[in-house]
Amino acid sequence: MSAVVIVGAQWGDEGKGKVVDLYTERADWVIRYGGGPNAGHTLVVGDEKIVVRLLPSGILREGTRCVLGQGMVIDPAVLLSEIDELVRRGRNGIEKRLLISDRAHLILPYHITIDCLREAKAAACNALGTTKKGIGPTYEDKARRTGIRTGDLRDPVRLRERIALAIEAWAPTIVALGGEVPEIDAILKPLLELAERIVPLLSSVSLIVDKALRDGAHVVFEGAQGTLLDIDHGTYPFVTSSSAVSGGAAIGVGVGPNRIRNIIGITKAYTTRVGAGPFPTELDDADGIHLREVGAEFGSVTGRPRRTGWLDLPALRYAARVDGIDGLAITKLDVLTGMQRLRICVAYDTPAGRTDDFPIDDMEVPGRITPVYHDMNGWNETLCNARRLDSLPGKARAYLDFISEQTGIPLYLVSVGPKRDETVMLHNPLI
Ligand code: IMP
Repeated sequence: MSAVVIVGAQWGDEGKGKVVDLYTERADWVIRYGGGPNAGHTLVVGDEKIVVRLLPSGILREGTRCVLGQGMVIDPAVLLSEIDELVRRGRNGIEKRLLISDRAHLILPYHITIDCLREAKAAACNALGTTKKGIGPTYEDKARRTGIRTGDLRDPVRLRERIALAIEAWAPTIVALGGEVPEIDAILKPLLELAERIVPLLSSVSLIVDKALRDGAHVVFEGAQGTLLDIDHGTYPFVTSSSAVSGGAAIGVGVGPNRIRNIIGITKAYTTRVGAGPFPTELDDADGIHLREVGAEFGSVTGRPRRTGWLDLPALRYAARVDGIDGLAITKLDVLTGMQRLRICVAYDTPAGRTDDFPIDDMEVPGRITPVYHDMNGWNETLCNARRLDSLPGKARAYLDFISEQTGIPLYLVSVGPKRDETVMLHNPLI
């Protein structure tokens, strides 16, 4: 048995799609455990670029079964259009390899309306910069016990009752935001049509995954978003609404935490963030523009330009602690090629003195903390042909060694380009 969690160690967009796709070469199962279509995992196979939002990144591997766990929020229309798009591109048998938890929550049109109305109302001053996919309101419904679960699709009478209850609960909010309260049938009718294709995919995921693990299967739990966007451990309130940390895998699938054998943390060789919130190593100069343009740092779900900055080691140490990271996958090292001087944040000056921990609470007050940087020399060589560490330029190796030494975490993988083979694979816990 081998159960591995692959988790984003930053504010999301670390390149999880490629890394999960690589590690699932030997996986029997790949499982999403949290979040929803706010994720956008990019896979590059040959010359083809595929972005999956709800489907696990293992979906392209024909021998891999894919699961959407109950920690997720699922927009049924998005899910089916994602499946149809893959079929249109010649990928078959998707629905035969896909299981959906019957306890995952559904994103319905009113969740999206509320998310959009709220963001519009908050405007520039205190908008969170959400992905406007209805994520927050759906998790709110879950916590308020007015959510609609995938399993409710099996029973149209109960479904109508549940939708009526949810609309009643949301009506004052929708009215206060200047929106229109939807009719029950306007939600129910199209949903029942989608249900015909969703219901056959539903099952008791906890039972099935636990059995697979007992039978010795290789299982990858695919994180979404990132540690610093986690509802409990992220830079609150500028976070998403789910448990994005590695521990979310046990909760979001329904297996014991002791089943997880290895945790891989993914970090870019620098840092990005979309949406509002603290980002202490953010750049607004030519280096920041280099990272955005060379790294093509535009959101895969929203197309928004990502904010860019230097690598933040205290943040990585923090992620290593809250996720229990065993090995690092460092992505987009090639994007640093051509930068003369590279800076890495190694510590913070705070009102209480210098710390190498991530001063997450001090970040709520602007200007209270200052990053302390270690400067390193850059390199000009192209990296995309490297397949071993010793074929990287010495300065790139020094950069990687510094990250590993400073965090005390071994390197498992270094990505030197978007394609599958543009990778230095150092360790695969699934072998
Ligand atoms: P929500 O998840 O759409 O509610 O957005 C909350 C915050 O999380 C916003 O700052 C989003 O930009 C951010 N966010 C959500 N999902 C992702 C992701 O997959 N990558 C990066 N940022 C994300």
